[in-house]
Amino acid sequence: MNEKELELHTESHDPAVPEAYAAFMRTGWGGRDLELPPHPVAAWAAARRDRLAQVFPGERLVVPAGRFKVRANDTDYRFRCETAHTWLCGNQTSDAVLVITSGSDGAAEAVLYARPSSGRDTDEFFRDRQYGELWVGRRPSLREISSSLGLPVRHLADLPEALSGDTKTRVLRGVDSRVDAEIEPDAERDAELVRVLGELRLVKDAWEISELRTACDATVLGFCDSVAEWDRVLEHGERWIEGTFFRRARAMGNDLGYDSIVGGGAHATTLHWIENSGAIVPGELVLLDMGVEGHNLYTADVTRTLPVSGSYSPLQRELYDVVYAAQQAGIDAVRPGAPFLAAHQAAMSVLAHALDDLGLLPVSAEEALDPDNRTYARWTLHGTSHMLGMDVHDCAGSAPEVYPKGDLAEGMVLTVEPGLYFQADDLLVPEELRGIGIRIEDDILVTADGAENLSVALPRTSDGVEEWMALHREGRA
Ligand code: GLY
Ligand code: MN
Ligand code: MN
Repeated sequence: MNEKELELHTESHDPAVPEAYAAFMRTGWGGRDLELPPHPVAAWAAARRDRLAQVFPGERLVVPAGRFKVRANDTDYRFRCETAHTWLCGNQTSDAVLVITSGSDGAAEAVLYARPSSGRDTDEFFRDRQYGELWVGRRPSLREISSSLGLPVRHLADLPEALSGDTKTRVLRGVDSRVDAEIEPDAERDAELVRVLGELRLVKDAWEISELRTACDATVLGFCDSVAEWDRVLEHGERWIEGTFFRRARAMGNDLGYDSIVGGGAHATTLHWIENSGAIVPGELVLLDMGVEGHNLYTADVTRTLPVSGSYSPLQRELYDVVYAAQQAGIDAVRPGAPFLAAHQAAMSVLAHALDDLGLLPVSAEEALDPDNRTYARWTLHGTSHMLGMDVHDCAGSAPEVYPKGDLAEGMVLTVEPGLYFQADDLLVPEELRGIGIRIEDDILVTADGAENLSVALPRTSDGVEEWMALHREGRA
């Protein structure tokens, strides 16, 4: 850390700190060591580091946690660690940097360089708004992080020395500018690290799968909470659902995995409608796309499209059932060895034929499904699936031939989320369709011989959704 980084983060409106006060504050505090239990991820993370090191024998790999990001002036966003960093060591404290040295035989040696709790011998603990214990809470000590995560932990101040020398070094860039500046970039080398990290994370280990189950379970509860609040949803609109779900995410997890999308009426046709400023109107649909991120940063990603009045109109039901059939066809296509894109192709085939039946396509369904045509996509817009894990759109750094163009394998988790979207100003559809958006999204684990829906607890047939809404609206759940 340089001088600037060691400066106290104070504000002009902070009261003066005369030496008498500072000296008094530094004395008279009791013992502060905590016994942190071993983190359950420790052994899994060590195995992940071994796999990474095997890919780059004789090299040094640097994966930072990231630092606080400014929201406005001196207020930061709540810290959320870089995914690859936490995946490799479990650490979730800011500013830390993981350095993995791979031996010539590919054996991993890892050291975490961390910013620990401030001691009681400097002013930091009571004056520093960003790191001071009396401002933001206690950071763990180096010893505590080490005993919890099961790897050696040194002070961040030792990092520059650890990064010196001429060992071939790859850096996960764009996470911590201080680390980026420390090591000469090599774009090709660093891009390869991104790619390998993405690909190594494609198949989830047993601990990750259990974390994803936990995230899905909390997410289902958040959907139930939202329906249980329906009277106030009708009064206050989309943001009442957003707030209700957020409460569940914070109570049972770390945060939201992504900003909740709550689209009442025509807002459902905006794919990432996170403004959530609209009304919830009886007779219309409301699309909820929401996911809880658990304490260890694995997130769910679930969408349901609900009838605001509790039951679908005949037209809404017809369209909903089409999307359901498309989703089911997509889920049925998920199995080890199948192409990742099989779910998309299966779902789009159902939707294209349904759009043809509605008389909307300018060509036949088969012609529209030709990759060089795709006219049906005016009303389906997006891909059907993405990998899911610690990032909602997980493993994005993988080589395209591995993902999305590769095949599924046991242990991968992906969404299946087709939708139909008729924009309010779409003159090519009958008026009665305009402003209707429907998406159904579930989180699907690839098993040894097929697939398991991790979000199955949330009904997704039209009848099932109606029954589930009735149950929760009347508080009988
Ligand atoms: N929630 C964003 C997505 O479904 O991809
Ligand atoms: Mn999704
Ligand atoms: Mn989603």
